[in-house]
Amino acid sequence: MDSMSLARLDDSLAPAREATVEMLQQRRHHFSLPQPFYNDERLFRLDMQEIFEKEWLFAGMTCEIPAKGNFITLDVGDNPVVIVRGNDGKVHAFHNVCRHRGSRLCVTDKGKVAKLVCHYHQWTYELDGRLLFAGSDMGKDFDLGAYGLKPVQVQTAGGYIFVSLADEPPAIDELLEALDRYLAPYDMDNVKVAVESSIVEQANWKLVLENNRECYHCNGAHPELLNSLQEFDDTDDPRATPAYKALVARKQADWEAQGVPFKLTRLGRRNRLTRTPLLNGTVSMTMDGQPGCKKLMGRLQSPDMGSLRILHLPNSWNHYMGDHAVVFRVMPLGPQKTVVTTKWLVHKDAVEGVDYDPAQLRRVWDATNDQDRRLAEENQRGINSKGYEPGPYSETFEFGVIDFIDWYSERMLENLGNSAPHLQLAQG
Ligand code: FES
Ligand SMILES: [Fe+2]
Repeated sequence: MDSMSLARLDDSLAPAREATVEMLQQRRHHFSLPQPFYNDERLFRLDMQEIFEKEWLFAGMTCEIPAKGNFITLDVGDNPVVIVRGNDGKVHAFHNVCRHRGSRLCVTDKGKVAKLVCHYHQWTYELDGRLLFAGSDMGKDFDLGAYGLKPVQVQTAGGYIFVSLADEPPAIDELLEALDRYLAPYDMDNVKVAVESSIVEQANWKLVLENNRECYHCNGAHPELLNSLQEFDDTDDPRATPAYKALVARKQADWEAQGVPFKLTRLGRRNRLTRTPLLNGTVSMTMDGQPGCKKLMGRLQSPDMGSLRILHLPNSWNHYMGDHAVVFRVMPLGPQKTVVTTKWLVHKDAVEGVDYDPAQLRRVWDATNDQDRRLAEENQRGINSKGYEPGPYSETFEFGVIDFIDWYSERMLENLGNSAPHLQLAQG
């Protein structure tokens, strides 16, 4: 398609862009968003274009592609992406789209290959994306160099892989530095995925995030999680009791002595990292609060590390304990459909059936994920009603939701303005 006709097609979203800017400018702060943000097809397409195709997304862990030729795939809306460990040991990311006639190239979630070979007509690419073989029929003048895989921006740090489909993604250096620092004690080159799950929630991705950003609902909803989880993680939290503050002081002295980072770090509203104690007497997010894996992570000497919490907007939250970690990835599938992938990480040398039982390890977050799925789905159903109107967030219990919605609104306004300059004027 030539760029003229593409521009005309894109213009079909122009009224939705203008309406979105207007709604964001007029929204009531500290209130949930107007209905279309949660259920409208056009607004979903804008979320994908302006957030998921422009921001840095948590894609997976470097331990999932430990050796050259290991790959994982993910779909960013309509955009399949492949992430592969190259011959040089580096992590590469590409649009997972063959340069012959556009077939999806790698068709499984993960795997290991010597070369990336398209299953359709066997065009063959090096792990760094160069086209090596285009069949025998393209003529001797065919320029292989013009048909390499299209790269996707990729960054790794602290065991994390981030991708961005933007040509010029936002700055990420501070996050990479923080992840390297906070995760150094976990020796992320020596972890493995013990078990993973993906659940589809019939809810907009923002409802999934909103639900995660508060624990106002925890008391009524999460009996398993509340065996170990503190409902807040900051001594400045209005709910922090003297007993909590004393526990934090005691644990922080321990962590300090072990050289393990714990201070609260905020990088704008997009990232937040902090270590917080679990409930007194518990050390892990398991049913009984005791370690779910006998072998501790990295160089840790004690299972009693509280929980290192890491937030990355728009699509990840994480808990690192002494014995295992749980990482979460959120990917939108439709206006009212979202997939949440959970991975439980343990030391690479931990032996299944000896050091850990996967069924036991996953129990708390399987239960919690399912409870959160129901909450998000019921939230969606109510929002779809003509009886819905934006409601007020609690500043005490839901400041995390306020932060997320403010971040989202700011990113949308800025990105919409940048991609359609006339809309920027409207913001002025
Ligand atoms: S589409 Fe990939 S080889 Fe033909
Ligand atoms: Fe929850």
